[in-house]
Amino acid sequence: MILQEDLLTVAMPKGRIFDEAVSLLREAGYPLPPEFDESRKLIIEVPEAGMQFILAKPMDVPTYVEHGVADVGVAGKDTMIEEKRDVYEVLDLKISECYMAVAGLPTYNPKADISPKIATKYPNLASEYFRQQGEQVEVIKLNGSIELAPIVGLADRIVDIVSTGRTLRENGLVELETMMSITSRFIVNPVSYRTKSAQIDEMVERLATVIEKENAE
Ligand code: PRP
Repeated sequence: MILQEDLLTVAMPKGRIFDEAVSLLREAGYPLPPEFDESRKLIIEVPEAGMQFILAKPMDVPTYVEHGVADVGVAGKDTMIEEKRDVYEVLDLKISECYMAVAGLPTYNPKADISPKIATKYPNLASEYFRQQGEQVEVIKLNGSIELAPIVGLADRIVDIVSTGRTLRENGLVELETMMSITSRFIVNPVSYRTKSAQIDEMVERLATVIEKENAE
């Protein structure tokens, strides 16, 4: 195994959350090297901070943390709800704010929708939502470019993340229902929380201080 056991292993989500998470860690005093900005490496060691980072797909971060490969990680609330992993969610990092919505074509007519189909990257979250709404739907799992589905007739509605709203707009879709707001969370493996408590507590405290300061401004 390439990971070093004496270092705190942090699972980071590649993609849209990444840059904000890196900035937050730097503001919290963690000296993340330039590799975080430019390289394609998936494991980056920062021994001077007693840490090493693994860069995973956002949806996989809770999996690495649940299995203890990573001690801690950064994961979107959307991922947490979808994946239902056995990890502690200890801090709202208040970064990568966006929301989950139901969207469709402007011509969508619920009364004419006799066999409702929902396309989404979040099948568990979507199923649970429509169950709570008392609506029976067929959920079709996709891995990305969800907005394509209503345009080409795969599904009438989608459940997806909306950030700026640009993807919906540029594809002629409209928001039909707002579901929940989403931010990124700091998550911890339950065993690591006991065995590496000093380092993890310090990290939570440092992050919390930065978040508090930034949200007070
Ligand atoms: C996400 C999401 C939407 C888009 C929303 O996709 O699934 O498609 O971003 O952002 P906006 O409101 O700012 O346009 P992402 O870019 O992560 O890629 P994906 O299509 O592969 O899921």
